[in-house]
Amino acid sequence: MTVSHATGPVTDPSLFTAVLSHFASGLTVISSTSEGQPVGLTCQSFFSLSLDPPMVAFSVARRSKSFAVIRRTGDFVVNVLSAEQRDVSAAMARSGTDKWSGVRWEQGELTGHPVIDGTLAHLECRIAAEYDGGDHVIVTAHVLGLGHATHETARPLLFYRSGYHGLAEHAHA
Ligand SMILES: Cc1cc2nc3c(=O)[nH]c(=O)nc-3n(C[C@H](O)[C@H](O)[C@H](O)COP(=O)(O)O)c2cc1C
Repeated sequence: MTVSHATGPVTDPSLFTAVLSHFASGLTVISSTSEGQPVGLTCQSFFSLSLDPPMVAFSVARRSKSFAVIRRTGDFVVNVLSAEQRDVSAAMARSGTDKWSGVRWEQGELTGHPVIDGTLAHLECRIAAEYDGGDHVIVTAHVLGLGHATHETARPLLFYRSGYHGLAEHAHA
C-alpha cells in the first residue's frame, strides 16, 4: 500500500507535533510525594533503558511543576496505565490543578510513593542522572522494585494521534 505523506519544514511546530503523534505508545503516570502529598504527571516518553543494571528513562518538560518536586525527592513510581484509566491520565496532565482528587492509591513498598489503584504495572525508581534534551530533560533512573497485574484480561491505555485508544485484541505471537 502506498502512503502519501504531508511534509513541510522542521521549523513548523504543528507539523512536528503531528508527525510525532503517529508514534503510538502506552502511557504512564510518574508519581512521588512531598510532605505526604502526592504529585505526578502523565508521561508518554517512558522507556526501558538497561537490563543490567535495571534502569528506565523518560523525558520531562523543564517547566514541569511535578518534576521539580520529584527531583528534590530523588525517587518516584512509574505507573503503567490500564485502559480504564483515561480519567487518571487526563487529570495528571492538567498542571496546577488538584490532580489527585478522587484518585485512589497505595504507598509503594520501597519508596512510599503512589502506586495508583488499577495500574497494569509499576516500578519504584531512584533518579540516576539528568541529560539536556532541549526544552525537556532526559531522566535516567535505577529500578528499586516492581510489580505487575496478574489478571490476563488487563489491557493497556494507548495514545496515538492525540487520542486515547485500546487494544482491540491481544496480538498472536
Ligand atoms: C498523553 C500525554 C502524554 C504526555 N507525556 C509527557 C511526557 O512524556 N513528558 C512531559 O514532560 N509531559 C508529558 N505530558 C504533559 C504533562 O502531563 C503535563 O504538562 C502536566 O500538566 C505536567 O504537570 P506538572 O506541571 O504538574 O508537572 C503528557 C500529556 C499527555 C496528555
